[in-house]
Amino acid sequence: MPRSRSPSVAPTFAFGGFADRVIRWQLRSGRHSLPWQATQDAYRIWLSEVMLQQTQVAAVLGYYSRFLERFPTLSELAAATLDEVMPYWAGLGYYSRARNLWACAREVQTHYRGQFPADPALLEALPGIGRSTAGAIAALAFGRRAAILDGNVRRVLSRVFGIEGDLTQATVLREVWLLAEGLLPRGQGIGPYTQGLMDLGATVCTRARPRCEACPLASDCVARIENRVKELPHPRRRAARPTREQRLLILRQASSIWLERRPERGIWGGLWSLPELEISADVIQTIRDRGLNPTALQDLPVIEHGFSHFVLRAYPVEVQVEGEIKLGGVDSGRPGQTAPQGQWLDLADVTSKALPKPVAELLRTFCRESGACDS
Ligand code: ADE
Repeated sequence: MPRSRSPSVAPTFAFGGFADRVIRWQLRSGRHSLPWQATQDAYRIWLSEVMLQQTQVAAVLGYYSRFLERFPTLSELAAATLDEVMPYWAGLGYYSRARNLWACAREVQTHYRGQFPADPALLEALPGIGRSTAGAIAALAFGRRAAILDGNVRRVLSRVFGIEGDLTQATVLREVWLLAEGLLPRGQGIGPYTQGLMDLGATVCTRARPRCEACPLASDCVARIENRVKELPHPRRRAARPTREQRLLILRQASSIWLERRPERGIWGGLWSLPELEISADVIQTIRDRGLNPTALQDLPVIEHGFSHFVLRAYPVEVQVEGEIKLGGVDSGRPGQTAPQGQWLDLADVTSKALPKPVAELLRTFCRESGACDS
């Protein structure tokens, strides 16, 4: 067991008491009408679990139904190109998930004849499926006795068992995985148990305002008994996120603007976006280097967007240009990157491309304010 100040509290849960309480609570008070709960189809459950990685239910719902409308089966997803898939992920963030999702569909199609394996170890070997996601799919789609340990569940366990260690450290995490496995129900109920832990973490044992009065584990919760709910889990020591500044070019020719497909690796990988430029670069010269003649220039309001490791502060600038653009990429100076693909697009059509959320918002506002679009 990971270091706990009150190990004497934990044995109360022996003989399945923990799992029983979670299951009973889930059946009575948990969530029952999430769209991925209405199916046993591993494809649909896998899709939901990948979308829900680092993303809340409310943000996922619309994406989930649009995605399934376009790709109702694994074979339809596996037959599509990545370019056809990306627009259905655009705005959901963490784009490597979409690339892995697509790669995973192809792998399941070729190596497993289109059927997901039920074994958590085989699931974990597929692209984009980590240990917790593998456990969730195995438990929810196949009724396997497999543990999950996503962020919400880590918080629940760290409070209930008074775990002091840093849960981002591999040694601590290894022990918490052992704990999670030891707590699994011995008999029936792995589905409601797994969903119950997720529901508890999302609706009761929340980070900022836990509702201990509604928690089935409260009577034995170390954090609650010791009045340390606000302290646990110990926040990870995070370095302040640096700010990265960049210019975004809205190159305009009549009613069209220039969009480029970003390289697969790196932020917004594979999405379409505006050309970027170092903040210190000479805008006019760079545009001339690409064969264009700038005829008017206007700075637009700055936008900020937070990534997990830095904050992007982008300075959009609208530039009216004439001439034929030379492909080569304003931002292709980084080693190992191929020149991006680019395209002139009518302003009213740009949001049909898979764009990063802040760029889509910027262009929507720009389009509206320039009178080219109604909404
Ligand atoms: N987060 C991760 N998986 C989930 C699920 N199946 N239901 C609700 N939230 C989740």
